[in-house]
Amino acid sequence: MTQVTEHFYDLPLYYDIAFDWDASDEVAILEHVFTEHADGEVLRVLEPACGTGRLLRALAAQGYAMTGYDLNQPMVDFAQRHTPGNVVVVQADMTSATFDEPFDAALCPINSLGHLITDENIAAHLRCTGESLRKGGVYVIQLSSVYEDLTEFEPEQWTTIRDGVTVDLTWEVVAEDVDTRLAHHRSKLVVDHGDDHYEYTEDHTMRVWTYDDIKRLVADCGCFELVAIYGEEHEPIDLDTEITGETGNLYYVLKRSPAGRG
Ligand SMILES: C[S@@+](CC[C@H](N)C(=O)[O-])C[C@H]1O[C@@H](n2cnc3c(N)ncnc32)[C@H](O)[C@@H]1O
Repeated sequence: MTQVTEHFYDLPLYYDIAFDWDASDEVAILEHVFTEHADGEVLRVLEPACGTGRLLRALAAQGYAMTGYDLNQPMVDFAQRHTPGNVVVVQADMTSATFDEPFDAALCPINSLGHLITDENIAAHLRCTGESLRKGGVYVIQLSSVYEDLTEFEPEQWTTIRDGVTVDLTWEVVAEDVDTRLAHHRSKLVVDHGDDHYEYTEDHTMRVWTYDDIKRLVADCGCFELVAIYGEEHEPIDLDTEITGETGNLYYVLKRSPAGRG
């Protein structure tokens, strides 16, 4: 057995296999949001923290002109090699990435924004993403909020086999502290690749959100308005709902307000 010393995000092949689920459900809610909430047609789409590019591929296949960026160079290299030639992938940071030509929409699925821990970094991300979208464009962020009772949350575990490589991933929210707004997540990766067996456990410090945080940070950034929320079954959620982790991993629709570029 080999103990993998790299971080999970430095292992793009195994990440890509573990997250190689059918993306049609995610594409459906994103296309619904583009149609319902963006002004005008959505053609150019940005994905901050795009990882290995699984949604860049899925949305490019629907005809969108996709650009993605990620902080981790191994993720960027993998995504560049495994997306169609018209997809742009660059290395950039969520707190500062800007682009010359504005996009019609952006997306940040599966809690990736939780990697930005402080209000300052989240505000910086909202501002630079707002600057990268045209007026009337939308930014779709998928987030879960702090749990009322974390003990009810079961670790998520799944196994994926691709091209003879078996990847078993367990993702657990170990603790959440609403006072510090920090959560402790743990991922355990077990890989069988040819004759090699790898096991690796990594602890991640992530942001804990309250719904009030989300509303405040969006209102304060000056370039987005929260216009809709959708649940995991794509059901609309009233903006006045008391949202907690138990409400689900929700899609927040931010619309680029007139104050920004474009
Ligand atoms: C859970 S993965 C999500 C990848 C992809 N969006 C998906 O849905 O499969 C989170 C990604 O966030 C990236 N990341 C973390 N902090 C970042 C930052 N400050 N700027 C850009 N990317 C970041 C990681 O490298 C990782 O690829």
